[in-house]
Amino acid sequence: MSAADYLPSELSLKALQVSSRDCHGCELYQRATQTVFGEGSPGARIMFIGEQPGDEEDLRGHPFVGPAGRLLNELLAEAGIERRDAYVTNVVKHFKWEPRGKRRIHQKPGAGEVKACLPWLQAEIEVMQPKILVLLGATAAQALLGKSFRVTEQRGQKLDYAQRLALATVHPSSILRQRTSQDRARERRLFIQDMLRVRELMSLE
Ligand code: URA
Ligand code: SF4
Repeated sequence: MSAADYLPSELSLKALQVSSRDCHGCELYQRATQTVFGEGSPGARIMFIGEQPGDEEDLRGHPFVGPAGRLLNELLAEAGIERRDAYVTNVVKHFKWEPRGKRRIHQKPGAGEVKACLPWLQAEIEVMQPKILVLLGATAAQALLGKSFRVTEQRGQKLDYAQRLALATVHPSSILRQRTSQDRARERRLFIQDMLRVRELMSLE
């Protein structure tokens, strides 16, 4: 079983978004509130790919609207990347969590879930034809570039996925998890540097 069984016959963003609501390509739909599909303006040239929706995204039905998304918006603005040039999505479209008291704690998606959900992302790339894929964190980078990919070693470099420009960097939530304000400030600077590299690569194309 995979998302491939739920793809619409017509490849348009709207058709994908609608069909994905009923996806039962893996078990994750059972405990999530709803499918959180990618979003962005039709002409967006940069596709940001995260891991999976978080708690807030799951409840609201939109990607990157929680704390990590707010930070992403802030850092993009600082790097001079316009929101309308960005399409944001995730490798896995349902929130995976486990209960801890009253809270829902994020759980990393497994390899089987990533594989099952990948047809959605591939269809999004097909429809959007972005100039560059920005892989946010290890889950996204390894889903597209292989298990041996290390973000720490290759962040900010010009990469290639299926003959398309790509660049990997850390996930914004890893910046939020930094313990000291100095560490956070450093990680913000490094992320902005990677975003400036994204702009540079696009202008060279
Ligand atoms: N983290 C992600 O990877 N994606 C979201 O949509 C939100 C948080
Ligand atoms: Fe379908 Fe992906 Fe949700 Fe699994 S996580 S049910 S494959 S949309």
